[in-house]
Amino acid sequence: VRPVLTDRFGRHHNYLRISLAERCNLRCTYCMPPEGVPLQPQSQLLQTPEILSLARHFYNHGVTKIRLTGGEPTLRKDLLDILQGLNDIGRNDRESNNNNRSGLDELAITTNGVTLAKHLDAYIDAGLNRVNISLDTLLPDKFAQLTRRPASYYDRVWESIEAAAAKAPHELVTKINVVVMNGVNQDEVADFCALQKQFPNLHVRFIEYMPFTENGWNMDKWVPYRDLLQQLEQQDHVQLVKLPELDPNDTTKWYTTLENSTRMNGDKNLGRIGFITSMSQPFCGTCNRLRLTSDGQIKVCLFDGNSTISLRDAMREGANGMELDQLIQHALRKKHFSLGGHSSPEHILADSDQNRPMTLIGG
Ligand code: GTP
Ligand code: 5AD
Ligand code: SF4
Repeated sequence: VRPVLTDRFGRHHNYLRISLAERCNLRCTYCMPPEGVPLQPQSQLLQTPEILSLARHFYNHGVTKIRLTGGEPTLRKDLLDILQGLNDIGRNDRESNNNNRSGLDELAITTNGVTLAKHLDAYIDAGLNRVNISLDTLLPDKFAQLTRRPASYYDRVWESIEAAAAKAPHELVTKINVVVMNGVNQDEVADFCALQKQFPNLHVRFIEYMPFTENGWNMDKWVPYRDLLQQLEQQDHVQLVKLPELDPNDTTKWYTTLENSTRMNGDKNLGRIGFITSMSQPFCGTCNRLRLTSDGQIKVCLFDGNSTISLRDAMREGANGMELDQLIQHALRKKHFSLGGHSSPEHILADSDQNRPMTLIGG
């Protein structure tokens, strides 16, 4: 039995989010300022063998799910090698159970989808089994405004969604992430729900807009989950049926359209509609997530301010497994119960210059 990474509140951390790149090929307004953010030289970022060695360490301490994030993770030239390396972790543990798959239950990526379509088959062959694609509007011109990139990029994201949806449900689980902002895309949520007519296995999640340094957040743009639900049901006439919570660590409250709910018993993979209520109803009580920034810092909470613990430095100085473990346990002991110790969105905002921008954390 592998040990587990447990904090002061008894939360087991079996989900590691690894950021692979600081760079991004979009400039989303809610994520970064127009000029982008200062990037570190490549030499400061974790190299592939370092990533794989850390991932193996975390696997040996109970991590069963790894999600690759960024910046934009597909910009990493050796993404395929990383996926293959991660898929090899713990393979022998599984082989003894006559299963030739990775020891990880989930090998996932969160991407903006701009360059996904081309390499998707190869990624799946390398072990990728989940993809979350961020798309905040279904209108190419608005996409251009929001991402500060040409409207033609929208077509590329759309191609990726089609490619991913074609692999559902057995080869790949695909979710669309929509950050909902009042006055920006709140009027499009019903259209996002309607995507399931075209892609019956696609899951669509609406995310509450969160405050970070210079990301334009204010109370008026924030749409709490309850308001959105009411809008969908009463104004947009989308009938939603609440689904039971199956995964205690899920970030998402799940519903389904009435249409899909009647068919759901026969097909558990049918598309769902989800809400990520980070601000109005934080899900910290069941947090199982640890983050590794692309420069190798461990971050125990999205809102925890700048981490001071560099696993990269420790490794480059020759730390052994036990020493790495001590550093990780030390970080975990400092994890607050909720929202990195902040009591409200305004407090998060007030402190946000002490925290990296979203693109440097990886969401
Ligand atoms: P699944 O594995 O598919 O459930 O995805 P996920 O929700 O863990 O990850 P994803 O990268 O798709 O993130 C979706 C949104 O949830 C982003 O806005 C993340 O910042 C947010 N999110 C993910 N994990 C946490 C978390 O631990 N705390 C908070 N507050 N938000 C989170
Ligand atoms: N609030 C909520 N979600 C955000 N994301 C990026 N910035 C924010 C924010 N300020 C989302 C991206 C992506 C995921 C990793 O985080 O859209 O889907
Ligand atoms: Fe976990 Fe922090 Fe997110 Fe809460 S805000 S769920 S503690 S990462």
